[in-house]
Amino acid sequence: MALLIKNADIVNADSRYTADILCDGETITRIDRGIAPPPGAEVIDATGRHVFPGFIDPHTHIYLPFMGTFSKDDYETGTKAALAGGTTTIFEMVCPSRSMSPAEGFALWRQQAAGKACCDYTFHMGVTRFDADSAAQLREIVGGGVGSFKVFLAYKGAFGVDDTELWQTLTLARELGVVVTAHCENETLVAELQKQLLAAGRTGPEAHHDSRPPRVEAEGVHHLMTFAGLTGARVYIVHLSCREALEAALAARLRGVNVSVETLIQYLVLDKTWAEKPGFEGAKYVMSPPLRDAANQAVLWNALASGLVQTVGTDHAPFDFLTQKPMGRDDFTKIPNGIPSIEDRINLLWTHGVKSGRLSLQQFVAVASTNAAKIFDLWPRKGVIQPGADADLVIYDPAYRGTISAKTQTQAVDYNAFEGWPIEGRPAVVTVRGEVAVRDGRFCGTVGRGRFLERRPART
Ligand code: URP
Ligand code: ZN
Ligand code: ZN
Repeated sequence: MALLIKNADIVNADSRYTADILCDGETITRIDRGIAPPPGAEVIDATGRHVFPGFIDPHTHIYLPFMGTFSKDDYETGTKAALAGGTTTIFEMVCPSRSMSPAEGFALWRQQAAGKACCDYTFHMGVTRFDADSAAQLREIVGGGVGSFKVFLAYKGAFGVDDTELWQTLTLARELGVVVTAHCENETLVAELQKQLLAAGRTGPEAHHDSRPPRVEAEGVHHLMTFAGLTGARVYIVHLSCREALEAALAARLRGVNVSVETLIQYLVLDKTWAEKPGFEGAKYVMSPPLRDAANQAVLWNALASGLVQTVGTDHAPFDFLTQKPMGRDDFTKIPNGIPSIEDRINLLWTHGVKSGRLSLQQFVAVASTNAAKIFDLWPRKGVIQPGADADLVIYDPAYRGTISAKTQTQAVDYNAFEGWPIEGRPAVVTVRGEVAVRDGRFCGTVGRGRFLERRPART
């Protein structure tokens, strides 16, 4: 079935113009002025709205066995929530336990998504141990269309790799031409600081920040940069939160390390005082790296606007406030880490980025869609509105005014970290490969339509 979007204010990362967009089946087939509707086509008038390429979240955890529990969304609720917020493609982290082989982990995550995902998805393949068997399996997984790895320098005893495994993973990645995404925090420093804080009686959520201060993250980044420089691997720092870590990444970039940087919407709009709220309320705001001193926000916004940081993700990791966060009521190190935001990333970035004058429309599209597509080999299928691209479109209503609330959200978690926050725009219509999946904030698409996206590294 054809879909014709009339009078679209088309915003790409490098262009803006008004035209009609014709989608035939799953693909954008024509962009022009005055396109006549083909027989039977659905016609949507986009006058007064922006039309953006479907947004891409480069970092999600829809299925995550972690810290003795499981994240709350499944692929149905998580991808419906993504779509309600304008995200049409997600990059999910496959995070096998160390006792699981990569092949087992990959099969498990694929099984979780199959038949349930409502938007397209792809994986960063977590390397949580490295030996001869895992190397062979990782080669197969890359051959099957997963063009990126994920390593954790944190989470000792769970997902974390040691330095030999890090070296071997980066060496294999260099050979295969895949990007290695990395959680950068020095796990030994975290473990020692946690012990010190608990011994001093600091057991509440407000102590979480001091167990992972900026230097711990900067050390993790510096560490990864040294290994990336010596192996020649392409790397991508996930969830960078602070100036010190950014300085370490930029110093490495200046000496030739091929590094891209992701920050999160949480670090742009929340600061560490949220995790200091009394009465265990702060547990809602415990994630790693932690929310930082507010001074870091200007650094991150400026870095996005100037292209030093390439992407804004969510690291969506939803754990209920009433039943899961209390696992760490007497010991902050046991609070399941994560601040859910898959549904709110775009509206918050729009409100606090574009509407506040920190980002231009083009920069907004670049950091929320196009750059991730380019870094991870999905462009130009995703991340741009042009003939031949998948018909993933967000018709965005800048006149909408509303507030964020757990009462009205789609994501399956019992709180919203941005409860009561105003938003100054939202997606009016979202399409997934030509099918309308959201109208006025509500999912109306097809459960299971989301497709696994094969990605082949374009560079070696
Ligand atoms: O707090 C976080 N970030 N939770 C999810 C796991 C991770 O480190 O990405
Ligand atoms: Zn992480
Ligand atoms: Zn994560």
